[in-house]
Amino acid sequence: MVLLLCNNQLLTTYYQLLTMTKLILVAGARPNFMKIAPLMHALKDHPTIQPILVHTGQHYDVKMSGQFFEELDIPAPDMNLEVGSASHAIQTARIMEGFEQVCLNEKPDYVLVVGDVNSTAACTLVASKMGIKTIHYEAGLRSNDRTMPEEINRLVTDAISDIFITTSIDADENLLHEGIPAGKIHMLGNLMIDSLVAQLPKAQKTELDFKLLNLEKNIALGKDFTEGRYGVLTFHRPGNVDKKECLTTLVNLWGEISELVPLVFPVHPRTYKNIVQFGLLPVIARYPHLYFIEPLGYLQFIHLVSLSAFALTDSGGIQEETTYMNIPCLTVRPNTERPVTVWEGSNKLIKTDEIVSEVRLIITGRGKHGTVPKYWDGKTAERIVEMISGIG
Ligand code: UD1
Repeated sequence: MVLLLCNNQLLTTYYQLLTMTKLILVAGARPNFMKIAPLMHALKDHPTIQPILVHTGQHYDVKMSGQFFEELDIPAPDMNLEVGSASHAIQTARIMEGFEQVCLNEKPDYVLVVGDVNSTAACTLVASKMGIKTIHYEAGLRSNDRTMPEEINRLVTDAISDIFITTSIDADENLLHEGIPAGKIHMLGNLMIDSLVAQLPKAQKTELDFKLLNLEKNIALGKDFTEGRYGVLTFHRPGNVDKKECLTTLVNLWGEISELVPLVFPVHPRTYKNIVQFGLLPVIARYPHLYFIEPLGYLQFIHLVSLSAFALTDSGGIQEETTYMNIPCLTVRPNTERPVTVWEGSNKLIKTDEIVSEVRLIITGRGKHGTVPKYWDGKTAERIVEMISGIG
């Protein structure tokens, strides 16, 4: 009798395993991790979906990757392709080579990719050529600027994906315009905001603790970081930081602004490398209230932004996070793939020569504020998992 029961249980488990939907989730670079985290949590012990997490290793430093896994409580990846940095072609090719093997071994039912980084496009290409159904979260965003590598990744990914999960209605409209049938598009909200909603209370309990980069100055941070009295800088787009002339102009403007209001910049490795190479460290050292610090972990970063007067950035994700927190955001780019943050949120697109006057508006109480877009509510992962279990 006991034996019979055991056999029945074994059979049930075996049957469950056979009928589970095998879902590979791909994470590659820093902005992917806060999107993957809520999905992995919502999939924990799921009765019908078996998640497999693949890290491509596009970002690999503790500061750009490891600490995000730890702080966001993302389980260790089932596989790490360890592709590292290289030219776009080489990095993309390495990801494809590694990911093809993963798909051959695992035979997943679905591959889910997020965002617009090289890992997103590379894994979608591999899966779709192998006849595996692909799901793109953050589909349909368009800057209409093909000089951005991310725009190419978005176009490639959406051209061949099977299921499209979007964060706002403009993305739905873009996809419909490109001929994607409405039935394949699911507007389910913003996973980045899921992470923010879940982590912000915890983040605000952590002490802000910065490590200054070696910039020939050594200043106590203290009173410059009182609530609402400083701005947060982030710049890493090739269009802004890869050309000496452009980066020199920006560095001088940051210095000028820091004399009006203290600025803190958790520097991206790409930007730091270029600052050193273009000989700009001495310029930064001239400004005592321009703080260059090492890249921050997720908790420190959202804590820092949540207490700031504004963000000055060229990032995609920060436009969304500041919109949710209703903090004025100045995005130094000619376009954005996230226009909802402009028409509805606190984001403003500005030109380089408008930076100083726009910062003056903010510090005199005339910064832009807005509202939170639909479904940016912390429950997007639940909605996505429900949708995927429905398609089986
Ligand atoms: C990538 C994404 C971009 C995203 C950004 C967030 C693409 C095309 N771009 O750009 O969409 O907004 O990540 O950070 O996928 N580096 C390190 N340590 C790391 C990772 C990178 O030092 O862990 C250095 C590399 O050596 C390289 C530079 O940072 O010189 C840029 O890294 P890369 O992954 O090529 O592109 P990102 O600019 O980070």
